[in-house]
Amino acid sequence: MTATPVIVAIDGPAGTGKSSTSKAVATRLGLGFLDTGAQYRAMTWWMLSHGVDVDDPAKVAAAASEPAIVSGTDPQGPTITVDGEDVAGPIRTHEVSAAVSAVSAVPEVRSVITELQRSIAAAAPNGLVAEGRDIGTTVLPDADVKIFLTASPEVRAARRSAELKGKDAAGLKATREALLKRDAADSARKASPLAKAADAIEVDTSDLTLEQVVECVVTLIDERRRR
Ligand code: DC
Repeated sequence: MTATPVIVAIDGPAGTGKSSTSKAVATRLGLGFLDTGAQYRAMTWWMLSHGVDVDDPAKVAAAASEPAIVSGTDPQGPTITVDGEDVAGPIRTHEVSAAVSAVSAVPEVRSVITELQRSIAAAAPNGLVAEGRDIGTTVLPDADVKIFLTASPEVRAARRSAELKGKDAAGLKATREALLKRDAADSARKASPLAKAADAIEVDTSDLTLEQVVECVVTLIDERRRR
């Protein structure tokens, strides 16, 4: 249990271990956990399911307030629903992964989801670990601790492929290319792109185990809270 709520922002590109690290850190410290990428995926899944042309920003913008996205923040069992439907599985398909950068680049989508994220953070009794692309720069710029995770493209593609547990039909090379394409789109967009906050601590996870990354992040949080 924590005395005062602590807000931790963990940003970085795909495959750097943000989710696994954030869940483990939140569990160790008794904090909530928020996977913000899952919320953008849920919005994208809803657009695709409702026949919205995801390549038409005006149509996406017009529909952005319609889906009711709800995130459960227990790090040992995070949940995500849209209009009451559990979408934890469907949001991880290739179709959603291929469309999510276009949907998340639309400013109206970002403002709806950013507002949701801020209200979840404000309601977390002990604080929370939020992971994404723009948490330290835009969503929670006053976070107590900001971490920016990186790893080489090879390591990131191998991790993403392993996560797909044999369902990586596209193969490692295609996974690497899709991942780099998504990172380039996420970094180049105008509305709060993937970026390291000036006051974020960068941790290169290429040669570290998950346990080592978790230890490093917990130590950084402890140091910050003692100040
Ligand atoms: O973390 P992830 O790979 O599940 O994220 C999916 C997409 O959501 C990512 O390609 C860009 C978008 N995203 C975003 O724009 N801002 C965030 N804070 C988190 C994710």
